[in-house]
Amino acid sequence: MNQRVLTGITTTGTPHLGNYVGAIRPAIAASHSPGQDSFFFLADLHALIKCSEPQKINDSTREIAATWLALGLDVDKTVFYRQSDVPEISELCWVLNCMAAKGLMNRAHAYKSAVAANLEDKQDPDFGVTMGLYGYPVLMAADILMFGAHKVPVGKDQIQHVEMARDIAQRFNHHFGEVFTLPEVVVDDKVAVLQGLDGRKMSKSYGNTIPLFLPPKKLQKSINKIKTNLLEPGEPKDPETSTVFQIWQAFASEQQTQDMRTAFADGIAWGEAKKQLGTLINEQVAEARDQYEALMADPVQIEQALQQGAEKARTYSRKLLAEVKHAVGIKPLI
Ligand code: TRP
Repeated sequence: MNQRVLTGITTTGTPHLGNYVGAIRPAIAASHSPGQDSFFFLADLHALIKCSEPQKINDSTREIAATWLALGLDVDKTVFYRQSDVPEISELCWVLNCMAAKGLMNRAHAYKSAVAANLEDKQDPDFGVTMGLYGYPVLMAADILMFGAHKVPVGKDQIQHVEMARDIAQRFNHHFGEVFTLPEVVVDDKVAVLQGLDGRKMSKSYGNTIPLFLPPKKLQKSINKIKTNLLEPGEPKDPETSTVFQIWQAFASEQQTQDMRTAFADGIAWGEAKKQLGTLINEQVAEARDQYEALMADPVQIEQALQQGAEKARTYSRKLLAEVKHAVGIKPLI
């Protein structure tokens, strides 16, 4: 049987270089490997937990879908869908809620850090904590278990959630029989975690991102904002501590990386290094950006791709949900 690989993207932002290098590019590349079935989805139900601005969620869904399609995701060879278009996921989520230990959820990092922040502010510990946030890992377990995923590639911050999905699956299987495949988390250390404008991890929550599909001039402007030190042109610069170099490396060939290392040693001016970085990224994304703009102007095409994806996804989810319900005793009387 093929390995099933599944991952979700929360629809709360505009795709940036960090998403591209850390998640989208490796996911699309891996989806071409033989022996692998890929499930990629837009986690808009998860987005509701973090965002209560309807327009933002809708815009982000459109942008993220257009991005994956523009970058060459083959929707015939993969299953690409919007979480909310697969209602079986929400139904499974309820069943799993009835299996998931509250004590397990108490240990979830996202919930714990919300409580810690409240205590710090001398607030009620559960101030602003919704049941959605509290049960976030259960919905994620439903996403994963629904499609019998073997491997779940995620960033480090999501490892605990995948482990919880495994725990919940084990508990279910123990009580009701072997219905769920136990998922394994995959964290690829070879994939770069990109630094943002301020040198911290590039993340929408830090507001330090460089959007992936900016028009060339705006892209360059954004790149020019990357924080550097005060070394003058002619002074040797350290590539290892430089965000400009780190991003360069994520896009450059080995030869180009070598050349930039030499340029740093020779004291390339920061302005020049940033200009070259802008040119490099621009060259690599130009074609996909044209596609992206065409798709963004034609939401019908995006919506059609998502609807077809949902139909495909539901051939799996209807079957699995029926098995689950049967296993727990929710079934016709005759
Ligand atoms: N929680 C993930 C994130 O914020 C997104 C996500 C939702 C996901 N469901 C998933 C990832 C299932 C992997 C598998 O990044």
